[in-house]
Amino acid sequence: MKLNRNYDNVKDSYLFVEIARRVAAYSADHPDAKLIRMGIGDVTRPLAPAVVEAGLKAMAEMGRAETFRGYSPDSQGYDFLRERISAYYARFGVKIAPREIHVSDGAKSDCGNIVDMFADDNTVLIPDPVYPVYVDSNIMSGRKIIYCDATEENDFAPLPDEKVKCDIIYLCSPNNPTGSAFTKEQLAAWVDYARRQGAVIIYDAAYEAFITDPDVPRSIFAVDGARECAVELCSFSKTAGFTGVRCGYTVVPDELCGGKFAKMWARRQSTKFNGTSYIQQRMAEAAYSEEGIKQNMENIAAYRKNAALISSALDEIGIYHTGGKNSPYIWLKCGTDSWTFFDRLLNDANVVGTPGSGFGRNGEGFFRLTAFNTYENTVAALERIKKIL
Ligand code: MLT
Repeated sequence: MKLNRNYDNVKDSYLFVEIARRVAAYSADHPDAKLIRMGIGDVTRPLAPAVVEAGLKAMAEMGRAETFRGYSPDSQGYDFLRERISAYYARFGVKIAPREIHVSDGAKSDCGNIVDMFADDNTVLIPDPVYPVYVDSNIMSGRKIIYCDATEENDFAPLPDEKVKCDIIYLCSPNNPTGSAFTKEQLAAWVDYARRQGAVIIYDAAYEAFITDPDVPRSIFAVDGARECAVELCSFSKTAGFTGVRCGYTVVPDELCGGKFAKMWARRQSTKFNGTSYIQQRMAEAAYSEEGIKQNMENIAAYRKNAALISSALDEIGIYHTGGKNSPYIWLKCGTDSWTFFDRLLNDANVVGTPGSGFGRNGEGFFRLTAFNTYENTVAALERIKKIL
């Protein structure tokens, strides 16, 4: 047996595992420390009542012989959920047919799995800094990766460079980690570039519900021509607080590779995935009901309020930062290397954030804070941060 040697080329530990390790070590040495976590983008507000009610009802159905369900009829997801997701897109003017929607247990899984669709000798273009899954999953398959720089100079929203040749492009908007978001015009530049290159865009829209700016599309499919060159990954985690429930979906338009991409993805999923549970799917359906959306948007408003609070505290202490507007992430310049700043915040303020360098070379010297904690904890953390800075 030979191991996959490509794993020699990924970092020893995944970013958030490394952070958890350091935090656990600190807590073991300082058992009384009251840590405030603004690191991993995990939500803190409970599920919307409409979602909980749907989950309980589905659970009760599973407990009665006449309504019990085993394997779902289709690994692509129940019709009721795919129809509901299609209606969700229609709310912001994007037409996606239920058959183009593939339900899964989360956008992270789809993101890691979608690399199965591509030949290993494809070249991948990834903006840096970036959500590490795009990079790691391609390193694991031995693909060549080239980076484009997302920097202060381009407001962390890089545009394509015609001289660069690639086959697969990863874009995330609103962006994790920088919080930047592409306008429709900027996204159109990427779509046109991808089509000229014959490349595919893997578009991560996990944070679309945070968009407030009318110039920023909620989906890449709001852009003409995207149906010929893009796949969209989306998640209920940040929109509906499903980080512990698990449910996401990928949109593969009919036009992509003349329908071959959708066929291959469905083929892959039916072999390697047995569908998301009925209960999760009923909860997800409720998350996109009128009532569910209203309740979820109240949670998002609360996170937005935290983001605004973080921004104004950083303004007060004169720290350059961006994000927080269409995004739950605030990206700040830390004035030192990112891990030193991480340790300082952990040790002196008992606040956990995410070192920017964990997201790539251009993240060095930056730091990410999330707005996902409670209002009270966010206020307390900012007081502590102000004190030490
Ligand atoms: C993050 O903190 O970057 C995200 O929560 C990670 C994820 O969604 O997997």
